[in-house]
Amino acid sequence: MKPMKATQLAVVLGMGLFMVACGGGESDGPVVPPPPAPAEYAASHMPAGWWTDAAKLEEGRKLFIGETNPDVNCASCHGKDGKPVKAGARDFRKGDRMALYSDSVWFWRIAEGVPNTKMKAWKSKLSEEDRWKIVLFERNFGLAGKGWDPEKHAWVDAASLPAAGAVAAPTSAEAPAAAPAPAGK
Ligand code: HEC
Repeated sequence: MKPMKATQLAVVLGMGLFMVACGGGESDGPVVPPPPAPAEYAASHMPAGWWTDAAKLEEGRKLFIGETNPDVNCASCHGKDGKPVKAGARDFRKGDRMALYSDSVWFWRIAEGVPNTKMKAWKSKLSEEDRWKIVLFERNFGLAGKGWDPEKHAWVDAASLPAAGAVAAPTSAEAPAAAPAPAGK
């Protein structure tokens, strides 16, 4: 093989590696809007009053860091403070990106995961209420004090959203935290 060719090849290979590294390696990718939530999730929103509920937020924190259920430890990839500890995990501190996601999209992704990534589906381990509590906590990293307004289709001041009582409380409000999966794993 001629020396020139080998050099050219090395340059091309180097560029390729550089682009791969920038595209999907250490960072969590370019800021682009997520796909819309599928129909079965599009109308799911945070229960009324929860955006400003400090107790629910605290429950969400414990779930997120694996304190409530060691089988569910979002922080092991996304970081306790929202700073990813595993390559490719979404950085929830990036408010500009997270603002492009409606609460329904977050909820859907937590339930069903993201195909072909390390983000798996959590719906078998998290009740709907627990998923909402986690959304509440996650929102705090980049969009503290905000809540999703389904009418305006935008993140707004959480305090401006309807308070609890405006809508009937969720039917399963009394349900205890999701029971640990039966033995066998
Ligand atoms: C094993 C590592 C890992 C764990 C554990 C994990 N995630 Fe993820 N998560 C990822 C990765 C990687 C992505 C980026 C997926 C992609 O490329 O779109 C992601 C993306 C996300 C997204 C954004 C989805 C999107 O469309 O951009 C949300 C929301 C999310 N994770 C929430 C959670 C929650 C909540 C938990 C805990 C119940 C959790 N993750 C646990 C790795 C993880």
